[in-house]
Order: sequence, then C-alpha cells, then structure tokens
Amino acid sequence: MIKDKINKELLPRHIAVIMDGNGRWAKKQGKNRIYGHQNGVDSVDRITEAAAELGIEYLTLYAFSTENWNRPQDEVNALMDLFVEAINANMEKLLANNVRLCVIGDHDRLPEKTRTNMQEAINKTNGSTGMTLVLAISYSSRWEILEAAKKIAADYKNGSVDLDGINEEYFASKLATGGMPDPDLLIRTSGELRISNFLMWQLSYSELYFTDVCWPEFKEQQFYEAILDYQSRERRFGKTSEQISK
Ligand code: FPP
Repeated sequence: MIKDKINKELLPRHIAVIMDGNGRWAKKQGKNRIYGHQNGVDSVDRITEAAAELGIEYLTLYAFSTENWNRPQDEVNALMDLFVEAINANMEKLLANNVRLCVIGDHDRLPEKTRTNMQEAINKTNGSTGMTLVLAISYSSRWEILEAAKKIAADYKNGSVDLDGINEEYFASKLATGGMPDPDLLIRTSGELRISNFLMWQLSYSELYFTDVCWPEFKEQQFYEAILDYQSRERRFGKTSEQISK
C-alpha cells in the first residue's frame, strides 16, 4: 500500500492545500458549480482524517479567498451554507480524531450565521490536542499582511516595540497564523500553477506540489502521493547540498 511507503520520521509538520477545480470538475459531469463544491466536502473530510491519522500537526485548507466574494451571489451563499453544514456534519468525526478547528480570514465579512456557527464549532473542538485544522475563509495573504502592518504600527506608536524589535519572528507573530509553523508542503489541485494570494509570507520555503487532479477527485491515494513526493525532495533553505548532508 502506498501509505506504508511514507516515512513517519520525515512527515511534513504543516500541509497547506489550495483546493481548486470544483467548478471545472462539476462542469465535466454536466452539473453546476455548487455540485462541485458539495463533492469537494467529501475530499475535505477524507484528507482531514488521513492527515490526522498520519500524525500531521497542521492542515490548512484554502476554502474561500477574499477575491471569491466577487463570485455570483448564489454561489457565495451556497458556499457559506456549505461550510457550516460540512463542519456541523463532521463535528463527531473531528472530535473522534482529536482535531482542533481554527479559522483564519476577515471574519467581519462573513454572514452572522456563518460566523456564529464557526465560533461554536471552534469552541467545541477547543479541548482537542491532536491535529489543528485551519480553514482559510475570506482570507487573502495581502489582507493578512496589511492587518499585521497595522498591528505593528499600533505597537510602535504605543511604544511596545521599537524598530529593532520588528524582526521576522515578531512580524510572523502578528499574522493570522501566529504561533503556527510555516507549511512544509503546499498542494494545489486542478493543474493551476499559482499561489493565488495564499500564505505568501509563510510559503517562503515550502515545497510546492501541483497535480492535475481536481479537488473532488483528490482522495487519500493522491494525498499520500503528494507526501511521498515531498519526502523525495532535498530541503536546503538556501544552504548547499553538502551542508545539508552533514
Ligand atoms: C475552488 O474551486 C474551490 C472553492 C473556491 C471552494 C472550496 C470549498 C469546498 C471544497 C467546500 C467545503 C469546504 C469546507 C472547508 C468544509 P473553484 O470553484 O475555483 O473551481 P474552478 O477553478 O474549477 O472554477
């Protein structure tokens, strides 16, 4: 089995995923885009469970970008409902898998119902000590970096930080992902070769993995393939190969 080939000593601590291709996949089936998103929920469930079972510490899923607010209103509404339904329907499983839920993004833009439901779900999983599932909803990297810049400006103004104190570690702590390790592996489905305003600070040294498979068809097998590919890479972080093998 492909899963058995994964080296448990070399697991990525944090995997981030751009779940792309729901709409195109649905169109190929002669269905509407929302059908694609509904089928994408099954992949979310299965990848979350597979990641938790493997021992991945953080799984971040890009579910809705700031730019996605510009989609047709019925698709936006359907997605907002789907997030809540999917989280509620999977609460037992999240708890059984010891998964802690966390949401990053501009929550002020979310409908009240979605925001409240998300918060309730987050509270319910608060006691979990296993994998952290981070849903990026109404999220964009530029939004996040601007927010961090504003927080830093406020800290500087009130004297809680000076110029020398504004280093990488401090800056990272002001991002929505503050306290989390950077992703080791980024997966993007559906053949698109872009970062699309996702975790631009955090992905600086991540290994990138692109697959033509659309998100509704991305299941355990494809996930394990991505991890195996990651494990075949040499991560140098700017150093030489010789320095790394020492
Ligand atoms: C990208 O495909 C996908 C999205 C914008 C939505 C992702 C949402 C889900 C998978 C639903 C469930 C999520 C959670 C977290 C419970 P696309 O619509 O851009 O596809 P296209 O590029 O083919 O049009």
